[in-house]
Amino acid sequence: MDYKMLVSKALEGRKNAYAPYSKFKVGAAVLTEDGKVYTGCNIENASYGATNCAERTAIFKAVSEGYTTIKAIAIVGIENEYTYPCGICRQVIAEFGSEDIEIILGKNENEYIVKTLDEILPGAFTKRDLIK
Ligand code: THU
Repeated sequence: MDYKMLVSKALEGRKNAYAPYSKFKVGAAVLTEDGKVYTGCNIENASYGATNCAERTAIFKAVSEGYTTIKAIAIVGIENEYTYPCGICRQVIAEFGSEDIEIILGKNENEYIVKTLDEILPGAFTKRDLIK
């Protein structure tokens, strides 16, 4: 897994962040199991609740193109700090992430940490529970 490549794609995605209200720009990039990369950014709205996070933008782009299994996601927010995905995005990552999805939090291109889904969303309710 080329973590550095995915973090740099997330940084590219962040360039398009539309965050005139919070000024908090976030970028994400997902790697599908087929090797495709989709980037995303946060997209805010004057009606604040209509805002879409960077992670969901990237994941929904992949899913809408037919790629429903994500092997890794890189997330970059504020410069030189780790930005963790919000609760809703964690649930969406649980829906489309592979069993061993790698969640890469980037401070910048050279500094990142890698988390598992169980670390950031322990005891997740997923489609596997519905099938039981
Ligand atoms: N945001 C994201 O894009 N991803 C996260 O995981 C955290 C929050 C965005 C939403 C909003 O545009 C801004 O950051 C401040 O909450």
